[in-house]
This record gives sequence, C-alpha cells and structure tokens, in this order.
Amino acid sequence: MSTPAKLYEGKAKIVYSTQNEQEYLTYFKDDATAFNALKKGTIQGKGEINCTISSALLKLLSDKGIETHFLAQKSEREMLVKAVKIIPLEVVVRNIAAGSLCKQTGLKEGLELPFPLVEFYLKNDDLGDPLLTSDRLSILNIASDEQIEQLKNNALKINQYLQDFFVSCDITLVDFKLEFGLDAHGNLLLADEISPDTCRLWDCLEQDAEKRVLDKDRFRRDLGKVESAYEQVQKRVLTQIEKLGNT
Ligand code: TMP
Ligand code: ASP
Repeated sequence: MSTPAKLYEGKAKIVYSTQNEQEYLTYFKDDATAFNALKKGTIQGKGEINCTISSALLKLLSDKGIETHFLAQKSEREMLVKAVKIIPLEVVVRNIAAGSLCKQTGLKEGLELPFPLVEFYLKNDDLGDPLLTSDRLSILNIASDEQIEQLKNNALKINQYLQDFFVSCDITLVDFKLEFGLDAHGNLLLADEISPDTCRLWDCLEQDAEKRVLDKDRFRRDLGKVESAYEQVQKRVLTQIEKLGNT
C-alpha cells in the first residue's frame, strides 16, 4: 500500500494518489484563472460548487451509458475518480457562437450554429492551447484516427444529453470543454470536470446579454456577481437531478 501523494496541481484542481492505484482523489480549489493564467483570482465557494455540479453531471452521464472517471463525491470539495492518463486535448463542443469562435471568425455572439461544432485544442499552456486542424492532429500523433472519431462521437452524445438536461434547468448550453483519459486497460473515459468553469451557460429566463451569463465569463469579463451565478447553476442542477430521481 502506498501513502497518498500529490500527483498534479492544475489551475483549479489538485489530484492525489490513493491507497488504491486504480483510483485518484481530486480536490477542487477556489482559484480561478483566465487567458492562460494572465488573469488570476478567487471565486469564493467555487471548489464546493464545481465539485458538486461535476459529480451530479458525471453521474447523470454515467447513468446514460457514457463511460466516465467518476466514482463518488467524497466531501464537498473531493471527488474520487478512476485513475486515467489524460489525453492532452481539449475537446470543445459549441451550439451557439461565443468566445474564441466569435473572436477568430467574426461570427456574431448568440448565433445558433447549424450543427454542433466539435473542435480539438492542444492542451499545452506554454503554446497557449492552440486550435488544431485534423491534419495537425494526425501529425502530432496524440491519439489514433479511431480514437479521434470516438472522442468526437462521445462529445456529440454528451452534448445531446447535457443540452436536454440544461434546458430542463432553464439554462442554454452555449458551449463547453471536455477532457478524456485512458484507464489501465486502454478504455476511453470522460474525465476532468463539467462545471460553470468549463461551460458557457446562459439563463433562458433572462434576455439581457450580460445578466444571462451564469458561468466563468462573469469572471473573465469582469461582469460581477460571479459567486451568485455559480450558486444559481448549482441550485437549478440539483433541483432538477432530485426531480429526475423522483420520477
Ligand atoms: P473559448 O470560446 O474560449 O474557446 O471556450 C470554449 C469553451 O471551453 C467555453 O465553454 C469555456 C471552455 N474553456 C475551458 O474550459 N478551459 C479553457 O482553458 C478555455 C480556453 C475554454
Ligand atoms: N482556464 C484557462 C486559463 O487560465 C482559461 C479559461 O478558462 O478562460 O488559463
């Protein structure tokens, strides 16, 4: 048996080993960064909220047959997960134009896309997480063509489930980022987190373009009321999960 040790500290989470080498413990911090850590701050209570929302959504997806790393929420800020080796790709799915898509293409924010757009970014802070073309993906040899196809199909399936779920919370799922990993047997599992840090979430009940923002854009763009937006997402997600459990 080995003593738990810090394996990795990222911008928003710390990953620890456990006495079981097939399981890790993830600790969710209140630290927030944006623009590749050029902007730094704290969102009070974010760790607890993101751990709770992520646990609920990963469990929901597991119940739908998506293979994820989620095992259990161990405390307000701690999630027990299956040990995986993260594939260094950020898989972004977009339903509505926002963020870097608008900056890079000139598409108007809020435009509904004709189909969900799946994009791959290289997970490399030193290089600023560049957007990859499919040929760059092949040349980098990070994942096989078959795995890339699997990542895309999984991301689209996850988008469908999450979009439907968020609609039932009166929230529009604008876009989000996923990370995947491989377990010891080579199985591809959805990993990391799904939270207001990694999704753009707009309140369907609010028309105002700034007031409707319920995600990390409030921090990125200095819109204020960051904590209450995260709390609002948690409240709606948990209420809806409870309703689903009762039906
Ligand atoms: P983007 O529009 O800035 O490319 O972001 C697309 C989505 O990915 C958005 O929901 C926020 C999320 N995201 C992350 O989770 N981590 C990141 O480092 C970045 C840049 C975006
Ligand atoms: N998490 C990323 C970073 O700091 C960027 C972001 O979420 O906007 O650096």
